[in-house]
Amino acid sequence: MTLDTILPKNGRASFRVLRKWPVASEIVGVELVPLDGASLPVAPAGSHIEIVLPSTDGKPLIRHYSLCNSPSERDSYLVAIKREPTSRGGSAYIHEVLTPGHVVEVSEPRDQFPLVEDASHHLLFAGGIGITPLLSMAQKLHLEDRPFKLVYFARTLDHVAFPNRLENLGRTVQLQIGYSPEDTEESIKAALASAGSNTHVYVCGPAPFISTVERLSNETVGPDRFHCEHFGAAPVATGSADKEFEVELAKSGKIIRIKPHQTIIQALEETGLRPEISCEQGVCGTCLTRVLAGEPDHRDSYLSAAEKAAGKQILICVSRSKSERIVLDI
Ligand code: FES
Repeated sequence: MTLDTILPKNGRASFRVLRKWPVASEIVGVELVPLDGASLPVAPAGSHIEIVLPSTDGKPLIRHYSLCNSPSERDSYLVAIKREPTSRGGSAYIHEVLTPGHVVEVSEPRDQFPLVEDASHHLLFAGGIGITPLLSMAQKLHLEDRPFKLVYFARTLDHVAFPNRLENLGRTVQLQIGYSPEDTEESIKAALASAGSNTHVYVCGPAPFISTVERLSNETVGPDRFHCEHFGAAPVATGSADKEFEVELAKSGKIIRIKPHQTIIQALEETGLRPEISCEQGVCGTCLTRVLAGEPDHRDSYLSAAEKAAGKQILICVSRSKSERIVLDI
């Protein structure tokens, strides 16, 4: 079965919510099955899907969630969503409104956080809801009998998601409950100290947690063997106040001015355009747009350093322009 037989051209298909249940304090699990009952393509460990949710203002909410199930489970997609107090609609909708039987549009899995296949050991660090992509990786490594260790930091035992799945992974999981920042750092150091040669380090969780693991990992295993997935973009320091600039929309020839306090997306919406967006933090890639002329001022965490240097693409939810005018393929 190929992907094309399941997913239409826009890369999304209709899925039914089979189950929704609490998997930890403040976290619900949602299991989605394709409407036609087809078996799903293999989703690489660490990949995520896009779920399109309705919203009150009629503008669909597109949210990205890591798959938590093992890549060997081919009948459903499993995601876990934490209730965010500052929810921009997605987590609130899923916690309060979504119920079994609802139908939602779901994208094909996207793999931006892959396991390094030739690593001799994998060290996975999860902070809170950051467990989701790492759980999928751990299940794959366990299934294939490859060496790994999962170190999972949670506030309390009640905040540990999918305890049954973790239990099946046996002693390769180290739960760290209620640690202070200092204890967390010591624990990360200890895990890194036991890392063998060609160990690769993976981390997902809150930004300060990721930064700590990155710093310590760079000092021990080195930056080439560090891999992370952000839930939100780290703010980019520009060193100066944001400037006004112009965006030329190549398809209509229209020119719009982007004020210092505005994003390109916001200015486009003011003109009545509805570009597709999701995270609005430069991490998911939904708003990726081709640059036809001008020099982007990249503020995202999605493009690689090489892609940023090439200047051919821009994430219009956060990035700006260094040149007076930038021409976009819109
Ligand atoms: Fe996610 Fe722009 S909407 S990167």
